[in-house]
Formats: sequence, C-alpha cells, structure tokens
Amino acid sequence: MKILSIETSCDETALAILDASGNEKGFKFKVNNTALYSQIEKHKEYGGVFPSLAKREHALNLIPLLTEITVVNGNGVEISEETKKELTEMLDREPDLLKAFLEYIPKISKPDIDMIAVTTGPGLEPALWVGINFARALSLVWQTPIMPVNHMEGHIASVMVEAEEISPEIQDIAFPAIALLISGGHTQLVKIDSWGKYEIIGSTRDDAVGEAFDKTARLLGLPYPGGPEISKLAQEARNMGLVPSIEFPRPMINSGDLNFSFSGLKTSVLYTVKKIGELDENMKKEIALEFENAATDVLVTKTKKAIEDSNAQTLIVGGGVIANRFIRENLTTMTDSLGIQILLPSRDLSTDNAIMIGIAGFIKSFREKPAMGANLKAIGNLSL
Ligand code: KG4
Ligand code: ZN
Repeated sequence: MKILSIETSCDETALAILDASGNEKGFKFKVNNTALYSQIEKHKEYGGVFPSLAKREHALNLIPLLTEITVVNGNGVEISEETKKELTEMLDREPDLLKAFLEYIPKISKPDIDMIAVTTGPGLEPALWVGINFARALSLVWQTPIMPVNHMEGHIASVMVEAEEISPEIQDIAFPAIALLISGGHTQLVKIDSWGKYEIIGSTRDDAVGEAFDKTARLLGLPYPGGPEISKLAQEARNMGLVPSIEFPRPMINSGDLNFSFSGLKTSVLYTVKKIGELDENMKKEIALEFENAATDVLVTKTKKAIEDSNAQTLIVGGGVIANRFIRENLTTMTDSLGIQILLPSRDLSTDNAIMIGIAGFIKSFREKPAMGANLKAIGNLSL
C-alpha cells in the first residue's frame, strides 16, 4: 500500500510518501520521499508556538512541500468547475492554500498512492485543520481515501523507522509493550497489548516534560524550544565535572502510581533563579544539569515500574523529548538491566514528522478502512 502522509499538528509542516506492506503480525515499509518545513525560527520571537502563525505557515508551505515530493510536469488532473466550487468551500478558511492548490494541482502528476494519512489530533486545532482540509482537498481531486491518524500513535510508530529505510528487524515486537510518550504536550505511559490496543496507564497531572524543559529554558534566558538548549548546557556541565550545588525535587517519584507532575519542578527552578538573581554561565549549567537529572530520574523510575507492573517485553519511547541523549542513555541502561528490548526513534524522527504518521496510518489500516473524509474533524485533545 502506498501512502501519502500529512502532519500539521504543531510547528512542523511535513509530508511523506511511503510504501508499506504486511499485516499486524509483521510489516515492512520504505520511505519513498519526504519533505519537512520547521517553523521553529518563526515562533522563536514569541517564546513558544503561536497558533495562528502556525496555521498560516502550514497553509503557505503545504503546496511547496508537495511539489518537492511529487513530479511537477504539467500532467496533473484537471479541476472541473464543480470540483472547484467544492474546493472553495473546503478551503474557505485557508485562502492561500486554496490559491496555490488551484494553481499547482493541475501541474502535479498524481502520485501513485492508495491512501492519505493525516493527523487529526492531538495538537493545535487551527493547525490540525489546515492539514485535514488539505487532505480532504487532495482526496477529492485524486479520489483517494483518507485515514485519520492520532499523532501519539505516530510517535509510537516512529520507532519503526531506521534511517528512512525498510527496517525488517523491527517487525517482531514482543508484546505487551510499554510506550513512554514524552513531548511538548504529553507525558504518558501506554500499555500496548497489540497494535491498536492502547491503554493509558499513567500521565502527567500538569505540565508535560517537554513543556518543563521549555519553561526552564525560558527562566534561564534560553531560546525556544528549550529542550535541546537545556540538554546542551547539562552536557557541558557533565563534561566539566560540575556537581550541582542545588537540589530539585523528583515530583511524585514515590507516589506508588504511574502518574507524573512536572509543574513543581519548574517552580523550584523559578525559586532558585529568583533567589540567585544574576545567573552566571556556570550557574545556568548547574541548573540545567540538576533539572535534567531530576526529570530523567522520574521518567526512568516510573517507566521501570510500568514495565514491571505489566510484565512488558518491550519499551517503546516516542516524542520530541527522546531526542535527549541523557534520557536515551538512562532508559537504555534501565531496560538492559531488566533484559528487555528498547526501541527508540532516530533522533531526527523523535520530533514531529510525517513518516511516523504514514506508518501509524498503515498500522491503523489493519483495524479500520480509510474513507473519503467528509466527517474528518480536528480534535485538539484527542486521546489514544
Ligand atoms: O514531539 P514534539 O516535536 O512536538 C510535540 O508533539 O509536542 O516535541 C517537542 C518537545 C519540545 O518541548 C522540545 O523542547 C522537546 O520536545 N525536545 C527536547 C529535546 N529536543 C526536543 N527535550 C529535551 N531534550 C532534547 N534534546
Ligand atoms: Zn509530537
């Protein structure tokens, strides 16, 4: 099955074309083409993702990205007056996208695809709608059904990719598996009994761990997104042999359940920063180091408990925060000590991308047929 996938849930606009085959017992796929535009630079001045800017950027960039992964040779489908009317209604909230769509679709040779996979949530609703309406418009002109995809199932699926190639050795996932999903919006432990059977067994009561990284970075005067910045400072501190003179809490580490809380950790950083006043470079490094240590301790402890409670055979970790080297290493040490398999996405597929959405769409096709997409809706808080 050939799949065109679309991701616009946050601040990355991404498309991919994959070729997948197999079933829930074993599958493989190949990434034929992919294009991604990161809006991070545009959002930096706001210190976070600005939803209406994200929406506008998605609308401006989807067609240029589509032309990168398709053949633009003037042999596209002709758009009839009737279809044009339908498209105008469909994309009435995205005039830039409509204009580019009507101009370019007749020039783009229809790719050989059987399904369009699109993220419908969770995420920023205005941003999600752009991708959804784009998928519906393509579905109409190319007569291709749509599979709505949960972004978090995408992060789970991201571990299936190795360097954009077929990764047959990963087909045999031993279930039950635990997925730790750590991003800017989520911190969740999910029990997976088989593909599509997801049970959320733990989640954050307040901030997501990525959000805590981002807020801590802001308190240290570092740019958005803060995760990579904190991680860099913490690594420098370790290389220098710095020992933190401050101590942050490990919230809920002994709560006996699988839930998380990160807002207290952020508040501790805030108090420390206020108390010290002027932060020199070494102090910033110490704070970053102790913050990363605290966040990692909690993540590792809770994940270990989840694995033990469920007798899991595999740990899957997805979401932007798993780009973090220190967290990767510590989770790997933990799973090694338990003697179970760990699957991590490559660092560039840890953050949002369309490849993971295509794979998640394929996995979902084992349990649900794609449809023409009239009823698609953006659901900001969509749950697994
Ligand atoms: O999955 P993602 O790209 O978007 C969401 O779905 O939220 O995750 C983005 C989050 C941000 O909070 C960012 O700071 C964090 O992932 N992140 C990191 C690192 N790289 C990205 N956090 C810690 N260490 C990193 N190296
Ligand atoms: Zn994400």
